[in-house]
Amino acid sequence: MAPLKAFFILSVGLLLAHQTFARNDAPCQPSDWNKGYNTFVQHHIPSGTPNSLNQTEWKNFIQTKTGCSRPTQSFLSPKDLDKVREVCSSKGGKTHKENLCISRQSFTFVTVRSEPGTCGIKSIREENKHLILACEVLGNDCLPVHFEGNPKNLKPNGTAVFSLAPPKRV
Ligand SMILES: *[C@@H]1O[C@H](CO)[C@@H](O)[C@H](O)[C@H]1NC(C)=O
Ligand SMILES: *[C@@H]1O[C@H](CO)[C@@H](O)[C@H](O)[C@H]1NC(C)=O
Repeated sequence: MAPLKAFFILSVGLLLAHQTFARNDAPCQPSDWNKGYNTFVQHHIPSGTPNSLNQTEWKNFIQTKTGCSRPTQSFLSPKDLDKVREVCSSKGGKTHKENLCISRQSFTFVTVRSEPGTCGIKSIREENKHLILACEVLGNDCLPVHFEGNPKNLKPNGTAVFSLAPPKRV
């Protein structure tokens, strides 16, 4: 086999393996997970979230809107949608690690823990933290596709900037 052809086959193989098994190693890489942003919005910034921390209202909400198969769910306020989208840009975010960005500002959101299956509420907490979101390019925009959670309450590193790795595909 000609060396060039072998190299080409190897490269394609590595590219496919990378896309299939690994998380992108920098934010804002092209993605073929087209539904990622819509899923993020449905899971983490849906319309109609209760305005209080009332347990009955939150149980009804997750039962009818988001389901309770995920035992921990965090909900941002729909009025913050534009600012949440900006976390995936230099305006609102900084590069964190892998394909994750961390927000420059902190956000208030509600984290609901529930019993899988029954939706029985274990806790409802209001949190105020910097967001850590996975960001990928869908169409022409770099958009959030995953809410990572920030249990250690990390803040953007003063030295970090919003930097993009060179795209892997040409
Ligand atoms: C919680 O909401 C339910 C349904 O809207 C209401 O009946 C109940 O009084 C509320 N509980 C509290 C503590 O406000
Ligand atoms: C901030 O980033 C610098 C350079 O990457 C690193 O050496 C330092 O440990 C980071 N600090 C924190 C608090 O993450």
